Amino acid sequence: MSDHRILLLGPPGAGKGTQSTRLTDEYDLDHITTGDALRANKEMETEYGTPGEYMDAGELVPDPVVNEIVVTALEDADGFVLDGYPRNIEQAEYLSEQTDLDVVVFLDVPGEELVDRLTGRRVCDDCGATYHVRFDPPEEEGVCDECGGELVQREDDTEDTVRERLRVYRENTEPVVEHYREKGSLVEVDGEGSPDEVFDRIRDVIEG
Ligand code: AP5
Ligand code: MG
Ligand code: ZN
Repeated sequence: MSDHRILLLGPPGAGKGTQSTRLTDEYDLDHITTGDALRANKEMETEYGTPGEYMDAGELVPDPVVNEIVVTALEDADGFVLDGYPRNIEQAEYLSEQTDLDVVVFLDVPGEELVDRLTGRRVCDDCGATYHVRFDPPEEEGVCDECGGELVQREDDTEDTVRERLRVYRENTEPVVEHYREKGSLVEVDGEGSPDEVFDRIRDVIEG
């Protein structure tokens, strides 16, 4: 395992998950993703209610719940790709008390492309592999190439919820992007083009 500590920032649908999978394979890193962790615990009772109540509405899950997920994952990781966290300034400040980062990569993709990517996304119910009905279709419609599992739509990938997630991103997470830009640790990567082209750009940044 290598010890790169990479933060991947970007709006919903920018390709954080897609590129994280490539990065963890290439550099043997842990994938720390609050979105996947929360989806696996959507019905968990917390003092704030369940994560699913926030997620299905496109809102942020309260900070104490996500901070706990991240701190536990960081304890076990040498190198990691952090995906989906931090999403507001308070989370960014909490993170800075827990670990240093080598590089912050911002995946830049324009708004209308994000809506198309998210509303066309399909994920494997069994192994989590991600597809897109037009941009990355499976060989057989509705069936996972990797494991034969059923492909489903994420509950927050409907057009209305996607628009709310983008609004929440602009309000809460764009200030996080600015925060890292001001610190000088942000590297912007063009997130358009094929996933392989985007990955080549990220690799160039990491191997700098
Ligand atoms: P989360 O799961 O993190 O969702 P997100 O940030 O909205 O991002 P996505 O996972 O939707 O997009 P992605 O960038 O990973 O794109 P992907 O690679 O899949 O969070 C979900 C919810 O959990 C939040 O709304 C919130 O409620 C809660 N939550 C999570 N973290 C939290 C936190 N820190 N604090 C509070 N609450 C939190 O790609 C998208 C699609 O595009 C796919 O279909 C893919 O095939 C396709 N695609 C990818 N790359 C390309 C390309 N280059 N060209 C064409 N298509 C492409
Ligand atoms: Mg994702
Ligand atoms: Zn699968």
